[in-house]
Order: sequence, then C-alpha cells, then structure tokens
Amino acid sequence: MAEVSSRALQMVDLVGQYRAIRAEILAAIEEVLESGQFIRGPIVAAFEQELAAYLGCRFALGVGNGTDALQLAFMTLGLRPGDEVIVPAFTFVATAEAAALLGIRPVFADIDPRTFNLDPASVEARLSPRTRAIVPVHLFGQAAELTPLLALAERHHLYVIEDNAQAIGATYRGQKTGTFGHIGCLSFFPSKNLGAYGDGGAVLTNDPALHERLSMLANHGARRKYYHELIGINSRLDALQAAILRIKLRHLEAYTQARQEAADRYDALLADCPGLTLPYRAPERTHVFHQYTIRVHPEVPGGRDGLQRYLKQQGIPTAVYYPVPLHQLPAFADFGPHDRLPEAEKAAREVLALPMHTELTSEQQRYITDAIRTYVETALRTGRPPTS
Ligand SMILES: Cc1ncc(COP(=O)(O)O)c(C=O)c1O
Repeated sequence: MAEVSSRALQMVDLVGQYRAIRAEILAAIEEVLESGQFIRGPIVAAFEQELAAYLGCRFALGVGNGTDALQLAFMTLGLRPGDEVIVPAFTFVATAEAAALLGIRPVFADIDPRTFNLDPASVEARLSPRTRAIVPVHLFGQAAELTPLLALAERHHLYVIEDNAQAIGATYRGQKTGTFGHIGCLSFFPSKNLGAYGDGGAVLTNDPALHERLSMLANHGARRKYYHELIGINSRLDALQAAILRIKLRHLEAYTQARQEAADRYDALLADCPGLTLPYRAPERTHVFHQYTIRVHPEVPGGRDGLQRYLKQQGIPTAVYYPVPLHQLPAFADFGPHDRLPEAEKAAREVLALPMHTELTSEQQRYITDAIRTYVETALRTGRPPTS
C-alpha cells in the first residue's frame, strides 16, 4: 500500500485537481474560443468583479503575472530610482526583484521566526529618509503581522504594498489579506492556491484613482487606445486564464478547506515527533496553507538536507522555500551592503515544505510522516542519518 502511495506523491497535484472539474473547465474554455475575444473583454471583467467581491475590496485588475503586479504597484505609487522599499529577506525573489528592476532599492528586513513573516521591529530599524513603502509578504499562506506594520507605515507616511501571492483567502482579524494596503498583489501561477493554467496575476485596491492608474500602466499607459499618457507596460490577464480562474474561484473555499484539513492531519501525525518545529498558527489569522513548512532542528544528524535526501529515496518529494535569503543573493549585491539577518538565514537552513495540495490523502500523509519519523528518530538515537 505504501508503494502505491509513494508513487503517486507529488508536491502539487494539478492534474488530479483538473480532472475533478474537467467538464466545467472545458465548457469555459469553449466559451472563450467561441467569443473570439482573447485579451480583456467581458470574461476578464466578470472575473475581476467576482475576485473583488470574494476578497471584499473595491477593485481587482487582472495582469500578466504576480511579478508584474508588484512592478505595477511600485510604478503606480510613483516610486523612483533611489527610493527604498522594505521587504522581507525570506520570500520569493520577485518581491524584491520587481522593485530592483525599477532602480528602487530593496532594503531587507528580518522575519519573525514563528511565522516566517516580516518582523515589525526589524522594519522599524531599517527606516530611512528614502523609505517610501513597506512590502509585507503573507508567506506560505499566513498573514504577516499587519497591525504594527500598518501603524508604522501611517506614522512615517509610507505606502503598504501587500505581496499576497501565496495567501489568497487568508484572513487577518476577519479581513482578507491583500485588501489592507494601498495595493495588494496576487499571483495565479499554476501551483498557487488559485492557480491558472499558465501565468496570471492581479492587483487589488480600494482607491479609484490608484485603480485607474494601475489600469493605464498595465495597458501601455493609455486610457484610450493609441492615446498614451504614461510610459506603461503590457501586462494583461488573458480571457482563457480568466475563464479558468472564474471556475476555480467558485471552488476556492473548498480547496482552502482541503488544504487546512491536510495541515491538521500533518499536525496530528507529527505532533510528538522530536527534532522538528511544525507550522505556527498565529492568533486572529486563518492560514490557507499554500505550503506546509516544517523546520528541521540542526541537532538532528544530517539536518534538513539529510532528511530531504532520505525522503527522496522513499519517493517523497519535498522543497526548500527558500534556500538563500534575498540579502545573500548575488542579484541584489549592487543594492548592498545588506545587514546580516539571523532569523532569515536560520530559516533558509532549516525549512522543508512537505507535499501540500487539494488532492492529498490521509494515506499519503501517513506514508510521508512515517518516513519523516523514521529518519528523525533513527538519526537522533544513533547519532547518524539512516541510510534507506
Ligand atoms: C511571494 C511571491 N511573490 C511574487 C510571486 C510572483 O508571482 P508570478 O510567478 O506570478 O510572477 C510569487 C510566485 O511565484 C511569490 O510566491
């Protein structure tokens, strides 16, 4: 039985998820093909409205991907070369890359070791007269500590851009993430909680003026075709992706629940396993478990990398999000020198994301957690990583 489970194991099962909604998806695709309207148009507009309604914000604008969403946010708020934005050092590269591409300096702050999200004290310590914005990332599906970050931003007249790529549907004090800041950014990369069948993203705002400027900048700086007022970019959600996302949005609450139930099962199965720290669920937040990320303590012989290798031999895929904190990446060297950030550096050495998706079964999870337990318990008892 374990053999069967291990063979079927994947970090994300996009095909399994598709098969369950195949008829709906194919009908939606057919509708787009028959409409002949592939860029923007009524299907994209309908998705934008449904997305905004789901999140509880005034405006959602579909764009090409989550990285463009961030770039458009910086452009829309008028950030310029030499300005500084404070971003967590422990996130996907795009959070800082989108700023750096515009000549904006990403200033890296450390994280709260429990949530992996921005530590407000570390942000405050990095404010300078050039700071223009704070970019909280709701990493792995759980909201950052928004109240102190928003207060800090207000006190220092800074913009807040939420990188909500990993946390669609998560809440903080009952409100959906992505709707707190001046602009929120979403990614519909296929493996995201709301994933397209290609690239896609969205920007969110409650401000009509920002929405108008975002719309222009995403469409060559024009309000009206061929009458360009600004230098913009070409970043639009296409109608096929919007049609697919409309279907999947209707299932999103069920998908989120499936992830949360899978996370609860991992918690229970690993509860008394030594040498690990399981995901922390911060108060007043709902975690949507884009990833289920554990920490492997350095005392475990072989450490995180040893466990990952062992699991791979058992047919269990895992992933390290992220092995190098951004302040240590060569790509950002020109924006340095960067401070050492001990918690981000420690997290990069210890984290391991387990398979997490809407189709994960308890049988598969038992197989995964039995293997983790065997490794950790054997390694701690014998002082050596076990060989398979
Ligand atoms: C935290 C974070 N920010 C930004 C992005 C960029 O999104 P995209 O891949 O759609 O450009 C991603 C995902 O890829 C992400 O995880």
